[in-house]
Amino acid sequence: MKVQQVKLVMSAVSAKQYPSDGYPEIALAGRSNVGKSSLINRLINRNRYARTSSTPGKTQTLNFYQINDEMYLVDVPGYGYARVSKADRAKFGEMIEEYLTTRKTLKGVVILVDGRHEPTDDDVSMYQYVQYYHLPTLVVATKMDKIPRSKWNKQESSIKKKLQFNQKDDFVFFSAPKNFGQEAVWNWIDAHTQL
Ligand code: GTP
Ligand code: MG
Repeated sequence: MKVQQVKLVMSAVSAKQYPSDGYPEIALAGRSNVGKSSLINRLINRNRYARTSSTPGKTQTLNFYQINDEMYLVDVPGYGYARVSKADRAKFGEMIEEYLTTRKTLKGVVILVDGRHEPTDDDVSMYQYVQYYHLPTLVVATKMDKIPRSKWNKQESSIKKKLQFNQKDDFVFFSAPKNFGQEAVWNWIDAHTQL
């Protein structure tokens, strides 16, 4: 994808606010602070278009970024952030669930996991949830600049094992500061959004 134009067209909290122009859509999901907004910025080649923060819980709405006049990337609020209230966590859960289960134009989900660690139970639940709805999935192991390359293969095996990774899905290593992996992510997105 050659990104010529990016527009944040909607920050939605419920289905009636989703854009209705029918463009294919890819969602980015993952734990709070894993790097979803940073990945979006790398994909669109801007440093700070999607707001990022070292404090978890930055993105609180479903943010629809329209790319050219072709598709949407959707930044999904992070899950698993312990310090939000129970009520807020339930609200986020419902918002994400409503989105993933009702959105007809959703063509696939990118699930980000922290490449340094074993996936958490929340990561496993999210991956299994998306599997259940038969949504094509790309698992992105991020923050790979934090671990030496000699350990990448081992990390990949351990992540796939914990997630019970489906061989039909895909896996990519990524680093935002090193600008590494975004081409592979785009290739996957293109393959899943072109008719
Ligand atoms: P929420 O919106 O809170 O769910 O978080 P998010 O998943 O959007 O994470 P965000 O992109 O805001 O990044 C969180 C922190 O991790 C920021 O301090 C980023 O600079 C940092 N970060 C993101 N990606 C990478 C990466 O590939 N490598 C390193 N070293 N840091 C990263
Ligand atoms: Mg974010």
